Amino acid sequence: MPITIKSAREIELMTEAGRILEIVHNELEKALKPGMSTLDIDRLGEEIIRSYGCVPSFLNYNGYPASICVSVNEEVVHGIPSSKRILKEGDIVGLDAGVIYKGYHSDAARTHAIGEVSKEAKDLIRVTRECFFEGIKYAKEGNHLYDISRAIGRYATERGYGVVEDLCGHGIGSQLHEAPEIPNYEMNRKGVKLRKGMTLAIEPMINIGTHAVEWLADDWTVVTADGSLSAHYENTVLITEDEPILLTLSK
Ligand code: MF3
Ligand code: CO
Repeated sequence: MPITIKSAREIELMTEAGRILEIVHNELEKALKPGMSTLDIDRLGEEIIRSYGCVPSFLNYNGYPASICVSVNEEVVHGIPSSKRILKEGDIVGLDAGVIYKGYHSDAARTHAIGEVSKEAKDLIRVTRECFFEGIKYAKEGNHLYDISRAIGRYATERGYGVVEDLCGHGIGSQLHEAPEIPNYEMNRKGVKLRKGMTLAIEPMINIGTHAVEWLADDWTVVTADGSLSAHYENTVLITEDEPILLTLSK
């Protein structure tokens, strides 16, 4: 499928989808506490999403059984919420969510600390977020897609982290996953030219140890191959002639 350029009306709808998703993330962050199950997070997230008249994009997507992906510690992404998985002080938890508003998607992820966490965990969360902001320095009309990929990948590898290569960011719009794929590592070509009206979900997934990942037997949960901690940070971004607009982050 070609990369879609969004009309003003489509951008309006995606802006609203993004605004609502930012609220969902803020509410989930406030609710996080030790003793909570990952299913509690999913239930709360779905309730907030529906309270805004939106549909959770992930629910039943390719058979995914929940609304919020909740990935704890060595889980990279796509953790399946469970009443048996209880958060405890010292954990880090990745929350990935998407909403559909009037047929248009937004997609964003955050990684949070539960209570006091190790310095290594704090640094990982911070660097993963910084990777995103390095990447979007290049997210502007006239630049090339893999300028973003290179900036993200270098920022992480220069600091000794492993960059997940088996999963990528993506275009987004009337579909959760649209062209193009957005790797988080340096490519040996330029990639497509960025144009205003493109909407991209940019989502570095960064590990303390090896970049290598594995899938659990549930066929969804992605974990680090060496068991090291992993973090995820994502926003839906609108390309313009100037600075990109972060549809899922207002501040
Ligand atoms: N942010 C994730 C992604 O872009 C969410 C997809 S989870 C799924 O891949 F359950 F919907 F597949
Ligand atoms: Co995504």
